Amino acid sequence: MRSKTRVAFLATTAIAALTLAGCSGTGGDAEGGDGGSTSTTVMKLALNQPETHPSFIALEAFGEQLNEATDGRWDVEVHPNSTLGNQDEYLQSVSQGVIDLAVVSAPQLENVNEDFVLFSLPKVFDDIDHQMSVLSDQEIVGDLYSSLEESNNITVVGGLTQGERSIYLKDGVAETPADLKGKKIRVQESPVFMAMIEALGASPTPLPFGDVYSGLQSGVVDGAENNEISYFSNKHHEVAPYLSYTRHLVGADFVIINSDTLAEMTDEDRAAFDEAWTAAWEQHTDLWKTDTEKAVADAEAAGAEFAEVDADAFAEALEPLLDEFLTTDSQKATYEAIRGAAE
Ligand code: GCU
Repeated sequence: MRSKTRVAFLATTAIAALTLAGCSGTGGDAEGGDGGSTSTTVMKLALNQPETHPSFIALEAFGEQLNEATDGRWDVEVHPNSTLGNQDEYLQSVSQGVIDLAVVSAPQLENVNEDFVLFSLPKVFDDIDHQMSVLSDQEIVGDLYSSLEESNNITVVGGLTQGERSIYLKDGVAETPADLKGKKIRVQESPVFMAMIEALGASPTPLPFGDVYSGLQSGVVDGAENNEISYFSNKHHEVAPYLSYTRHLVGADFVIINSDTLAEMTDEDRAAFDEAWTAAWEQHTDLWKTDTEKAVADAEAAGAEFAEVDADAFAEALEPLLDEFLTTDSQKATYEAIRGAAE
């Protein structure tokens, strides 16, 4: 039943459009160490979230810190709101250096290395703290993060939490999977997310994230699943006001960079890059917790309903996915290491 699409790289037209948008360029002058001036390499970072989202805030701060620490030799320009395309296009664009950096959800990487499926399976992570300790543990994720360098010219810089994902609908709360029967639920373009919605008895409809609002509004889909911050900051509550706390998994995003761009950095600048990343990652994790509460309060004030439902019934329906998707020895070994890191 499981068909795995491999590297669904994109049509050249999308790439051509992105090429026009430009890649890393040399910007203004920066102060060299000896008081002379050197040029600034401005790296473009593609993001499919708005300016209010923790990923935008933390990655803007990442660019500022990097710029300061390298005396202006490197900078990051964050392009939010899918203005540089959809996530499935980011892989190809970063690979070719059309853009330098991007935030992609785990399912996008699953399409190029099936071991990334681990990060989209239910019950892999207990909570955000467990997830963050794993995603920053080089012993567990180091090989995975460099696994796309030879094949795709992409290095994974690190992981960011997506928090817990839950299902939201246009027309009511889903107490148990039975309430989803026959409903079209938007999913990310990935085999595991398709299988997840099928296992709940609903009908999965793949759509790019940027099309979810209009898909809900027009009735192309009856619901979707995401975390509270993405739900509110992308205004999905306006068109699907019933969020059922299925908490079916803790999702992960990854920041990816063109490996050649990374290799251009001197050791000193690379160290500054790594430090700026660690600071951004910590800020993101802290912001996630406070912003989740705020997103819920703001969405409720706007009329959305957040309902506790029979989460065990959802978990039970999803249990078979672990066996179905953890098939290779390397997936199983990484899964064991992740579980071993749980408190
Ligand atoms: C989350 C995640 C995004 C992803 C989105 C989706 O919001 O942070 O990277 O694109 O889910 O469902 O597509």
